[in-house]
Amino acid sequence: MSCIRSEIIGWGHYLPKKVLTNDDLSKMVDTNDEWISTRTGIKSRHISEGETTADMSIKAADAALKQAELTIKDIDVIIVGTLTPDNTTPATAAKIGGIMGVNPGTPTFDIAAACSGFVYALTMADNMIRLGQVKTALVIGAETLSKIVDWTDRNTCVLFGDGAGAVVLKAREGEGTSADTGILATKLYSDGTQYNNLYVSGGVSTTATAGFVVMNGKEVFKFAVGSLSEAAENVMNQCGVNAEQIDWLLPHQANIRIIEGVGHKLGLPDEKVIVTVDHHGNTSAASIPLALSESLEAGKIKKGDLVVLSAMGAGFTWGGVLVRI
Ligand code: ACO
Repeated sequence: MSCIRSEIIGWGHYLPKKVLTNDDLSKMVDTNDEWISTRTGIKSRHISEGETTADMSIKAADAALKQAELTIKDIDVIIVGTLTPDNTTPATAAKIGGIMGVNPGTPTFDIAAACSGFVYALTMADNMIRLGQVKTALVIGAETLSKIVDWTDRNTCVLFGDGAGAVVLKAREGEGTSADTGILATKLYSDGTQYNNLYVSGGVSTTATAGFVVMNGKEVFKFAVGSLSEAAENVMNQCGVNAEQIDWLLPHQANIRIIEGVGHKLGLPDEKVIVTVDHHGNTSAASIPLALSESLEAGKIKKGDLVVLSAMGAGFTWGGVLVRI
């Protein structure tokens, strides 16, 4: 039966120029390349020098619009997944829309779902498109995590990086089968009882400060492998797709051991798993769109490929998206 699908018609990403290597970090805290590489798979990360989440988002969005051969005037909604907004309010999405010159009256909003922010934002945009509320959507995942990392805490400061990724979605007619192009299935979850295992220690109504990332690494690790696999399996099952039919697993880029654990759990060979954590670090809501855009740009992910996106983060939140490019 025919249906409306949200097709990814443009993508772009932006990484700040400054690269911080593990050796650089070893001069700042008691750590070393060997520890960071073996425990996390991270070798380097990009760090913003004055560029805000909106600044980086605009660069990623410009690239995505160019790729889509559209302008900001063609966009019916802007949704940004971020936990590091430029201001407490208004939404970074509104600021981005204002600077880019979106048509007055266009809805813009942020999603606060931490590392799952992009998957949540993509799901909201897909729902709006399938309901016929909008025809085109600009969906961004962007973070300036360097601002909320305690650079004296070796347990956390080695993990994170900055950057932004964006996609443009457009409504198109589909057949209602898994052969369609576009988003085929989405699924979101959360479990607020895990609040204390991963959080940022500040907040408007608590400390009136931004705070720093606090993490129970072992608990996050345990939960991440199961939840990332659960979300991926759910969206595959919704479409009756098995692991052999998947071209790429693109999980949230937190840690190579988590990524490999999910790939193995799903029965996917390492060659089918996208890894960018080595040179991006963990960029939270930016990690999936950054990896997606980089892989599409490099010709690694190709038109027609079936890709399963899977994210997990603070809340805990988690979710999956099955998409044919
Ligand atoms: N350099 C050197 N030593 C370190 C460092 C460091 N950067 N950080 C911690 N250590 C030390 C610890 O102090 C500890 O020393 P001790 O035994 O003398 O006390 C030792 O290394 C082992 O520490 P653990 O915390 O047990 O190390 P573990 O193997 O659990 O690895 C890690 C820690 C990498 C954080 C792991 O728990 C993990 O990957 N967790 C997942 C968390 C994650 O990826 N979070 C990202 C945000 S969440 C998200 O995006 C979903």
